[in-house]
Amino acid sequence: MTDSTAAALTLLGTLTDRAPEGTWSAPGRVNLIGEHTDYNEGFVLPFAIGHRTAAAVALRDDDVVRVGSTFSDDVVEVSLADLDGVIAARSLDWAAYPLGVAWALRAAAPEGVARGVDIAISSDVPIGAGLSSSAAIESAVASALNDVWAAGLDRVALARVGRIAENDAVGAPTGIMDQMASMLGRPDAATFLDCRTLETASIDLGFAAAGLEVLVIDTLVSHAHASGGYRERRASCEAGAAALGVSSLRDVSVTDLDRARTVLDDETFRRVRHIVTENQRVLDTVAALRSEGPRAIGDLLTASHASMRDDFEISVAELDLAVETALSAGALGARMTGGGFGGAAIALIPKDRIADASTAVERAFAASGFRAPHTFTVTASAGARRDA
Ligand code: GLA
Repeated sequence: MTDSTAAALTLLGTLTDRAPEGTWSAPGRVNLIGEHTDYNEGFVLPFAIGHRTAAAVALRDDDVVRVGSTFSDDVVEVSLADLDGVIAARSLDWAAYPLGVAWALRAAAPEGVARGVDIAISSDVPIGAGLSSSAAIESAVASALNDVWAAGLDRVALARVGRIAENDAVGAPTGIMDQMASMLGRPDAATFLDCRTLETASIDLGFAAAGLEVLVIDTLVSHAHASGGYRERRASCEAGAAALGVSSLRDVSVTDLDRARTVLDDETFRRVRHIVTENQRVLDTVAALRSEGPRAIGDLLTASHASMRDDFEISVAELDLAVETALSAGALGARMTGGGFGGAAIALIPKDRIADASTAVERAFAASGFRAPHTFTVTASAGARRDA
C-alpha cells in the first residue's frame, strides 16, 4: 500500500466508523509536448507519473457527501440535494474538485445510484507545480464514485466529468488533457490524444531502455489557471480562429501561416503560430518516437519551449533558466510543461548525467537569486485504478 493510500484510510477512519468500500488512486501528469493545444482541438502527448492521489470512500446512510483531505483541515459536507446550488455559488475552496466531480458525475450518469459517501483524499502529487494535482484528485474521486454509485462510465467519460468539474465547479477554463492523461496512463508510454475526437493511442516511450530519464525541475513559482494569463491566451486563440474564419486553430496548418500573418495583428499572429507549430511538433514527436526512438525527440522539446517563451509568452525567467541550464548540462531536450507562468520544466537527460544536471540547475538558480527549485525524476506510470 502506498503512503497516500494509508494516509487516506487513516483519515477516513476519523470521518466515519463504517468500513471503507475501497481505495482508488490516480496520477498526476507531465506533458511531454503539446501545450495549450488541447482547448484548440489539437494534439497533446502527456504521460501519467508515479506521483498519485488516493481516495478512500465509505458509504453513509444519508444523502450527504463529505470530503476531507490531508492537505486541509476543513471537512466539507453537502447534501446531494444541495449540490447544484453549492457548485453554482462557487464558494468552495479545494473541495470544489471532489464535490465538483460528484456533481458532474451525477449529471453524466443519472441512472447511477448516487448516495451519501465519506471521501478521504491524500496525495503525493506536488501542488502548484504544473503536474496536474487537480486532475489527480478529479480522476481518483471520479473513479471511486463511478464504482460505488454504479454509474458505469468508461475512462473517457470519467475524464470528461473531471474536466467539467474543473471548468464549471472550480472555474478554470482548461482543456481535457490532464484528465485524459490521468485516466489513461500506461507504464512506459505516453497518451497521444486528438483533443477534437478524443481518440487516443498509447505511444511507447522507451526512455529507460535508451538510458534516458525525465528530470522535473519545479521552480516553485506558483500559477493559477482560473484567472489571468491562461484565460487571456485562450481568448487570443479564439480571436485568432475567428479572424481566420475557422472554428478552432486545429483547422490552421503550418502552410496557412503566411496568410495568417497578413490577417492578424502581431501578438495574435504569434499566439496562433505557437498553436499551429506546436500541433505539428506533437505529430513529429510521435513519428520520431515510433521510427527512431526517444533520442530523436530532444530538439522538438526544446523548440516547443522556445515557441512558448517567444510566441505564446507563457514562460518565466526561472523556467527559461531551468531549460537552458539543463541543456548545457547534457539534456537532449527541455521545455516547460503545463499551463505556464510558473510550475515546472522537464528535461530529457542521459541517466548518468542526471545528478550533474540537478546540481547545475540548483547552482544556476542560486546564482540568479531564485528560490531553490525542487528536482526529481519521473517515470511514465499507470492511470487511475481501484487499488483495493
Ligand atoms: C493546464 C490545463 C490543460 C492544458 C495545459 C496547457 O494544464 O489544465 O488543459 O491547457 O494547461 O497545455
